Amino acid sequence: MSVFAGLSDQPRDQIIALMQAFQNDPRSRKVDMGVGVYRDAGGRTPVMRAIKTAEGRLWDQQTTKSYTDLAGDAGFRDAMAGLVLGEARDARRIATLATVGGTGAIRIALELVRSAAPQARVWIPDPTWPNHSPIIRQAGLAQASYRYFDAATGAVDFGAVMADLDRVRAGDIVLLHGCCHNPTGANLSIGQWKDVARRLNDRGAVPLIDIAYQGFGDGLDDDAAPVRLVARDCPEVLVAASCSKNFGVYRDRAGVLLALAGNKAGAARIQANLTALNRLAYSFPPDHGARLVTMVLADPALRSAWQAELEAMRARMLALREGLADALRRQSGSDRFGFLGQHRGMFSRLGATPGQIDRLREDHGIYILGDGRMNIAGLHDDTIDMIARAIVDVGL
Ligand code: LMR
Repeated sequence: MSVFAGLSDQPRDQIIALMQAFQNDPRSRKVDMGVGVYRDAGGRTPVMRAIKTAEGRLWDQQTTKSYTDLAGDAGFRDAMAGLVLGEARDARRIATLATVGGTGAIRIALELVRSAAPQARVWIPDPTWPNHSPIIRQAGLAQASYRYFDAATGAVDFGAVMADLDRVRAGDIVLLHGCCHNPTGANLSIGQWKDVARRLNDRGAVPLIDIAYQGFGDGLDDDAAPVRLVARDCPEVLVAASCSKNFGVYRDRAGVLLALAGNKAGAARIQANLTALNRLAYSFPPDHGARLVTMVLADPALRSAWQAELEAMRARMLALREGLADALRRQSGSDRFGFLGQHRGMFSRLGATPGQIDRLREDHGIYILGDGRMNIAGLHDDTIDMIARAIVDVGL
């Protein structure tokens, strides 16, 4: 009898399965609007120019690949704390950890919570990134969800958010998307963030902010403004930040976990625990992508080249978003898709039924996720009209 006979079957990850189905589709006229990776006008996911330059320099200059620090390179952690928290970074109350991408940061954050408060429940928005719930389950924590999105208007249902957050208990963790909500593209306004921070403080809950798309919404600083507000207003905060998208280092797995404590002693205890959690999971976090990010952020010329390229990516997505909203207005003769222009980041949710999603894929070669999420960066000026026609054709 096999030791492993008791393993349960694992559901296929819907995002990765769709990515593979697209790759296996032999049709030449097909459009990938599934997995959340940026695509340029040629449909490629480029290595950003500043990263490429840093990579060349690193190749020239690096003399060792020996171990760094269990918590990851300090220069990387500082640079990322600065990028995300800006002037809200408070050296007296911060602990930082380099992680295996943003997903690794979420996982380690949850491990930290389990070590400290195994009875804590983790609240996630409904809907959220499909990987959040399984990671929480795997980390052995209970979970609950708060309503977030009003499918009828394509906007945040803020009344429902606040009503559900009123049920949060002291010591619970509340996961929030820092910007560019995945999968809906609908975000809280800064005033609403203020209300949420106050509600969490009233309830004694700790925010866990997942920020994977800083720079893809309204710009680097505007996208980080909610995290900074929460960092100032809440005594304890966890932030999981990814470098995959805004630095384009997806496969290099660079991310950071920032933990804000009530005081210096608390931060030191969290730091020691985070460092131990890295050691227990994989010893040292990957360094290559993190080092490239640090080089870009530390060199003024590389940093401004990176910001300019990121800004061009953001502008492109915004133009595609508005282009699709316009094309849908023309095709449908109505403004029922106007919400697309209001959303920010890579994603929007169309409100399509499973049958409509299948028809988009089978009849038109358009791949969107099973929950109706579409990746706007998968659009192209030449395909916008075709996609708008297809969306109307399948009855949306
Ligand atoms: C996505 O949501 O598509 C991305 O974050 C990629 C992933 O790992 O799921």
